Amino acid sequence: MAALKGRNLLTLADLTADEMTRLLTTAAQIKSGEINPQCPQKILGLVFKKASTRTRVSFTAAMYKLGGQVIDLNANLTQIGRGEPTADTARVLNRYLDVLAIRTYEQAEVEEFAQHTNIPIINALTDLEHPCQILADLLTVQEEFGSCKGLTMTYLGDGNNVAHSLILGCALMGMNVRIATPKGYEPDSAIVKKAEQLSGGSSEVVITTDAKSAVQGAHALYTDVWASMGQEDLAAKRIPIFEPYQINRELLTLADPKAIVLHCLPAHRGEEITEEVMEGPQSRIWDEVENRMHAQQALLAEVLGAV
Ligand code: CP
Ligand code: NVA
Repeated sequence: MAALKGRNLLTLADLTADEMTRLLTTAAQIKSGEINPQCPQKILGLVFKKASTRTRVSFTAAMYKLGGQVIDLNANLTQIGRGEPTADTARVLNRYLDVLAIRTYEQAEVEEFAQHTNIPIINALTDLEHPCQILADLLTVQEEFGSCKGLTMTYLGDGNNVAHSLILGCALMGMNVRIATPKGYEPDSAIVKKAEQLSGGSSEVVITTDAKSAVQGAHALYTDVWASMGQEDLAAKRIPIFEPYQINRELLTLADPKAIVLHCLPAHRGEEITEEVMEGPQSRIWDEVENRMHAQQALLAEVLGAV
């Protein structure tokens, strides 16, 4: 029986280390063509209250590759945009769909969807987490190095949704994680605590304001925008605060010589990362993009019981 059949993915902490490992193995097998799971007649719904290119298209492509169908539930074309209660929307969608991916603001909203449905609910980004992104990122690390275990991931920038899921994902895969943020922009301490529990001592989480020491000897450098969706009015004020955390050629020379560079995208070139590093030989950003689709195809196949 499939390990993840019927399960939600609201946070990466919903997975055990074995489940995460299995998911990444399934994704690699799908990518290589070794397996080709199918979910004919299954329907994925997408409720996206924030913009998305990669997540929307990679989920759609993944579901089509599984032989399933997708319904894009644009909030402005449905009663969702007119404020129908989440509990009602959830119970309605539960009667029509087989799986639902949601991008919204509050983590509590995806939890509420899950409370009122018995189909798998997938977090496609909230203010708190972005678990699907990190499945693709760690698949990319695994492809590069063979395994994540014992390696060091350094994230530079805002202690945001991507940082939170990265901390949890690295802990599950036995990868050390260092987060370098300006004072006042650290990740949620409850997430850090959870990661320490999940890793069971197999890896460590370091939070620091010192970008240079955080990058020293790291195997992967990761960054994201300094102001996330919903924080656009804070963007200009943050630029000078975050400037020491930019991934540029100088910082990259402090990492392991074989280090790779990741970015979830969209990127602001010249802010959190330079054009030179983004397009340089250590960047794996475009493989990371492709891996969104393979990782989500694996996730959908797993939760729909096709593998
Ligand atoms: N990385 C990511 O989630 O991109 P989108 O916002 O385009 O989906
Ligand atoms: N932290 C970013 C990620 C976008 C994929 C945001 O929430 O806007």
